[in-house]
Amino acid sequence: MSHAQLIEMARNNLKWAKTGTIEQADAIFKVPAEHYYDEGRWRREMDLVFKRLPLMLATSAEIPNPGDYKAMQAVDTPVLISRGEDSQIRAFINMCRHRGSQIMAAGTGNTKRFTCPYHAWSYDQKGALTGVYSERDFGAVDRSCNSLVELPAAERAGLIWVQINPNASLGIDAFLSGYDAMLDNFGFANWHFFESRTLKGPNWKVAYDGYLDLYHLPILHKDTFGADYPNQALYYAWGPHQRVSSPDPSFAKYDDVSEAGNAHLMTGVWTIFPHVSIASFDGGGRGVMISQLFPGETPLESYTVQNYLMEKPPPDEETAQNAHEQFKFLEYVVKEEDYATGLRQQKALLTGHMPYVQFGRNEGGGQCFHRWVDRLLETDDQALPALFQNGAPSGAAANGAKA
Ligand code: FES
Ligand SMILES: [Fe+2]
Repeated sequence: MSHAQLIEMARNNLKWAKTGTIEQADAIFKVPAEHYYDEGRWRREMDLVFKRLPLMLATSAEIPNPGDYKAMQAVDTPVLISRGEDSQIRAFINMCRHRGSQIMAAGTGNTKRFTCPYHAWSYDQKGALTGVYSERDFGAVDRSCNSLVELPAAERAGLIWVQINPNASLGIDAFLSGYDAMLDNFGFANWHFFESRTLKGPNWKVAYDGYLDLYHLPILHKDTFGADYPNQALYYAWGPHQRVSSPDPSFAKYDDVSEAGNAHLMTGVWTIFPHVSIASFDGGGRGVMISQLFPGETPLESYTVQNYLMEKPPPDEETAQNAHEQFKFLEYVVKEEDYATGLRQQKALLTGHMPYVQFGRNEGGGQCFHRWVDRLLETDDQALPALFQNGAPSGAAANGAKA
């Protein structure tokens, strides 16, 4: 089914390439400029978007083996993701039940036990308290009510989603809206985790807008991607998640589009709402950069974890070096072009002398993204599952054919 959808999108991309035009959004869309910097608005986004929705926090390739774990900060919550001996993924708040110390330092590793560095209480891979240091002196501790606080987690398409609210009302599959079946066409479960790094950036939406926008490519990135890069985008939506791809004349080389290979069918940017983008590259062999964008401590800060995954581990030093060069190039593009521009844009917006920014009829993806954020801020916990059942908020149609 999902493969058939890929073919359908490829046919659509070829169709629009032949016309030289794109399907446009209904109208130019205005977003109040203060949505990018107002403190109260930003806090509501943290509470009602980031702390309610599943967040794609890890790739399976980072922690492929039983006993592997990843500890990290997600928005305001220290998270510990663990792959048990049963290969199942579980997630916890990285917080000891004794006095709340963070148990594992940020990073990945492999262990049978999570031992707290403060007084050595220990937990197994399922989060159960297994050891209390000097319990005879401390007093008896009821194991049954001192497990780590578990968070909803799911592994789909070689990616791991976690909700940083243990009482979340929205299920992860409802949130994914079938998009995981599309992402599964990459086959990330069997890919190789190559490298990662972290970059600082502007307000999370200033930064994220750029991932949904091909309009800027031949302009802002003229010296890197080149001035001939296509600036037109077709958008496909599954719930709030969107694929951004260009009209593509190169599908015309096949007698039938269904003959196209997987890498060709998966081109473009696959975004995962509200903060992830997946883009394909081929330096050193087929690879993707998976960017996870996190809000920082204030509305004016964000940081992005750029992860580079490769379909196959580089077979030799030269190929690894090529992949490394490709990834370094992407760091330059994002840091020196996208985020440097975003930081200057945010400074200008902060003057307060412009009431709104605009998303054109060719920027339907950005329109759809901002409408989803708005709608989430208006939706209470009880109504959240229905919002995802109903697909895109009304009027939020992206400008491409719907998948
Ligand atoms: S806080 Fe973890 S053992 Fe004391
Ligand atoms: Fe860009």
